[in-house]
Amino acid sequence: MPRIAYVNGRYVRHADARVHVEDRGYQFADGVYEVCEVAGGAIIDMTRHLDRLDRSLRELAMAWPMHRGAFEFVLGEVVRRNRVHDGLVYLQVTRGVASRDFLFPADAKPSMVVTAKKVAPSLGAARAEAGIKVLTVPETRWERVDIKTVGLLPNVLAKQKAKEAGAQEAWFVDPDGTVKEGGSSNAWIVTADGALVTRPAEFGILRGITRTTLFEVAAKLGLRIEERGFTVAEARAAREAFISSATTIAMPVVEIDGAPIANGHPGSVTMSLRQAFHDLAERKAL
Ligand code: PDD
Repeated sequence: MPRIAYVNGRYVRHADARVHVEDRGYQFADGVYEVCEVAGGAIIDMTRHLDRLDRSLRELAMAWPMHRGAFEFVLGEVVRRNRVHDGLVYLQVTRGVASRDFLFPADAKPSMVVTAKKVAPSLGAARAEAGIKVLTVPETRWERVDIKTVGLLPNVLAKQKAKEAGAQEAWFVDPDGTVKEGGSSNAWIVTADGALVTRPAEFGILRGITRTTLFEVAAKLGLRIEERGFTVAEARAAREAFISSATTIAMPVVEIDGAPIANGHPGSVTMSLRQAFHDLAERKAL
């Protein structure tokens, strides 16, 4: 069965899926995206992801390519047509195709692409059991990282650097030593007295959907959250550290810049959050 992608109104074979060379996403990174987890045959937290998409579009003065209800249908349809039971669905909206000019085109229609991919749940489970390593890197991104744009070059370079250092995620760090977030995830620590610490999302980071849902999971588990900045030094001395994203849920960090966190094994608080996550997250059945 061939993989199927949705491209501007058509369901096409993934291998044949194309956008125009003058798509503004391609030329200017003038577009936004979302990644939703698919778990047990349902799209996870779709409402929150589409609410954030709406915000990203508004911040860039871009229009929805279609009504939200139709958009939701396309997401489900791409997941169904690819028979994805567990994995992810990716969606991207750009300002459209126009002759290259920095100014917004007067008449371009937004472009919309949706793909879906299977990911075996055992992969995430194995990763969580081992924990991941993080490399810290200086913050090099623009200030509007609260908008989920496809302009991800600093993230690409940071994650590549992390990989070359034997790590699975990079943490962007401000000059004062404060941790911002990961290349494609939010950053958290657990203090000695069991409180969760994560940076406020008013500016400087993306307000992760997984992060938002984890606040509810934490409340259910009776865990206290301190929404404040933390430094690399505090993280290295923490009881636990972890990252969150739609593709990792809560994923233990066992090493930062080559130094182990606590005993170098995944922490129990992180694992309890990971376990409880899907009991609380919204499930949009297909
Ligand atoms: N990335 N911060 C950044 C920079 C991210 O790219 C992501 C997600 C997050 C976590 O957001 P959420 O919990 O909504 O997934 C935080 C996705 C997974 C990606 O680019 O593949």
